[in-house]
Amino acid sequence: MPTFETDPNGFSRLWPTLFLQRELPNTTAANQALQQLILEREVGHRESKATDITSDYLSQDFFSIDHPVIGWLKSCVNKSVSDYLGEQGLDYQVDWALQAWPNINRRGDYHNLHNHPRSYLSGTYYVAMPTRDQIDATARQDLNPGSISFFDPRAQANMLAIKDDGQVEAEHRVLPTEGMLLLWPSFIHHLVHPNLSDELRLSISFNVVLQWRDDYLPS
Ligand SMILES: [Fe+2]
Repeated sequence: MPTFETDPNGFSRLWPTLFLQRELPNTTAANQALQQLILEREVGHRESKATDITSDYLSQDFFSIDHPVIGWLKSCVNKSVSDYLGEQGLDYQVDWALQAWPNINRRGDYHNLHNHPRSYLSGTYYVAMPTRDQIDATARQDLNPGSISFFDPRAQANMLAIKDDGQVEAEHRVLPTEGMLLLWPSFIHHLVHPNLSDELRLSISFNVVLQWRDDYLPS
């Protein structure tokens, strides 16, 4: 029977959810190149498919573009996935493929609550973000403009939580900055709050889709 690790005093931490937030170094030039690629790609997508590139995310793979900055970003994502799996304690070979798409959020744009089925891990890299002083000063700050929120998959775990017991916060909210990379299990529900700025909020999201090996079967 599968069990969680128990310490000598009989305590174990059940149902962990690992989340990665890291800043990639020296991203200014890369972000300029990525922004240009995203906006060029948006025009081409609209002309060829008559759809919006952000909502039509499954019909494309942004990482298939043959460009040095895409190669750089893919290598950063693959390194982060490898680090994540290592932190999970997986000591066997895991193979995966990446599928990516850009998100273009102009004033008022947001993404409703969702998760990413048929994927193992999901993540986002932030290319351009409105700064705090570029966000409407008159906007209600409880709208959390530009932030992304992740929600506890154990839906009612906070219901009777008391101070310091670790179950109080059902929401983990991040206001990303340019150059930030986030990575989480694909089953986690999340949403993106509205962009209340005239500046672009640009990001590249990706799915980490496992390529099957029998080693993955829990024993
Ligand atoms: Fe998402």
